[in-house]
Amino acid sequence: ESPKNFDLVLFGATGDLAMRKLLPALYHAHAAGRLHPLGRILGASRSRLTRAGFVAKAEQQAKPDDADPNVWASFAERLDYHPLDMDDERDFAALAAKIHGKTDSESTVFYLSTAPKFFTQACRSLAAHGLNGANARVVLEKPLGTDLESCRLINDGVAQYFQEHQTLRIDHYLGKSGLQNLLALRFGNSLFEPLWNNRHIRSVQITLAETLGVEERGEFYDTIGALRDMVQNHIIQILCLTAMERPQSLSAGHLRDAKLQLIRSLRPLDPERDAVFGQYAFSDGLKGYTQEHKVPAASRTETYAALCARIDTPRWEGVPFYLRTGKRLARRSAEIVIGFRPLSDGLFPTLLPNRLVISLQAEDETVRLRLNVKTPDGANHTVPAEACFDTRSGRRPSAYETLLLEAIAGRAALFNRRDELEAAWAWLAPALTFLRQHPRPPHPYPAGSSGPAAAERLLAQGDTWFEGD
Ligand code: BG6
Repeated sequence: ESPKNFDLVLFGATGDLAMRKLLPALYHAHAAGRLHPLGRILGASRSRLTRAGFVAKAEQQAKPDDADPNVWASFAERLDYHPLDMDDERDFAALAAKIHGKTDSESTVFYLSTAPKFFTQACRSLAAHGLNGANARVVLEKPLGTDLESCRLINDGVAQYFQEHQTLRIDHYLGKSGLQNLLALRFGNSLFEPLWNNRHIRSVQITLAETLGVEERGEFYDTIGALRDMVQNHIIQILCLTAMERPQSLSAGHLRDAKLQLIRSLRPLDPERDAVFGQYAFSDGLKGYTQEHKVPAASRTETYAALCARIDTPRWEGVPFYLRTGKRLARRSAEIVIGFRPLSDGLFPTLLPNRLVISLQAEDETVRLRLNVKTPDGANHTVPAEACFDTRSGRRPSAYETLLLEAIAGRAALFNRRDELEAAWAWLAPALTFLRQHPRPPHPYPAGSSGPAAAERLLAQGDTWFEGD
């Protein structure tokens, strides 16, 4: 399928996400010949910049270090800029004139990299100027609300102007090739799918751990916390792809039906029993969370969350799913760990259970399978050995590159449908209420450690948190 001729309008074009992720991703897509030669990228934001001013800013802040100067120059020709005040209809009228002026466009994408409070308003203005036609898509950045109700409000607002298949709710984890590979791994290998159930799997862990703290985002993060920032979206999506039933096909409809069904079969959370929250504290010269820039000294915002989820389906009855995320942890990782049941075979006394570790981060995209092999000495002595599949082959597009190209192509499969996001909020609701009402602050953990010791209590007997060993 050849790429579509497009107009991509980046709202919030001078912001951090656009400069650090979106424009570099578009540059790489351009350099790899994946963009239609006539496709345009139109930055829009409140800053009263000229086109030249925007191009210069992009060159300074978005140009990848290894960019070829000639390729960058040809990429920059695609860039244009349109100052836009969300409250000013004249700015939208001028934007519409620019877009309607390009008559051969096959796809128009409005990427709203702005605060969610602008989503409905922006969509209303786009529609008022005839910019919500059949070829138009609107991309909504997270966070999509802060709970079920606010998420519904945004979805209702946007739905007045854009149809569901035109509304692309982004979760950049869905663009990671390691996560897409999970489906091929599960459903493309006779070695795994027959074992993917409670008869053979004892427990599953999903960890998204970061070594960074909240950096410059303290003021924003303090109103959000780890549950909303990472669990509601990335972790639940990973959980879905790990545990859902086989979708009928990989179409947007079937894939998202399968994910929704999984979220709906999650057992309601009892936060007192199933959740542990933490907050990083000063240690070894690393700031504690409450010492971060613009974080209130008495903040109780959780920078760590661990949950034990249960899935009420015959496939997963009795299998705990341990979910964990945090900032300022010892090791950066994004991992799914499938722990298989031990064999009760008397032949080999030193067997360790098989374990499959799927690493999702671009810098460590691997699948590792722990097996038992015999040592040359001793009659029945075995040691664990690891088969490691490096799944990186050739160029790996960034998550944002993949998702931007999907948006331009008008495909929705790698974006969240309204109902799955709302179901995810509904499942987390008891935990959000618990955090709001609970008199105890989150458990402190030393910055740079592996999180609060209290998280141990979520584990069934015999299970341990996987720390990369
Ligand atoms: C974002 C969160 O969605 O994901 C950030 O808002 C987090 O707080 C980031 O740092 C992690 O993404 P990645 O791709 O680096 O694991």
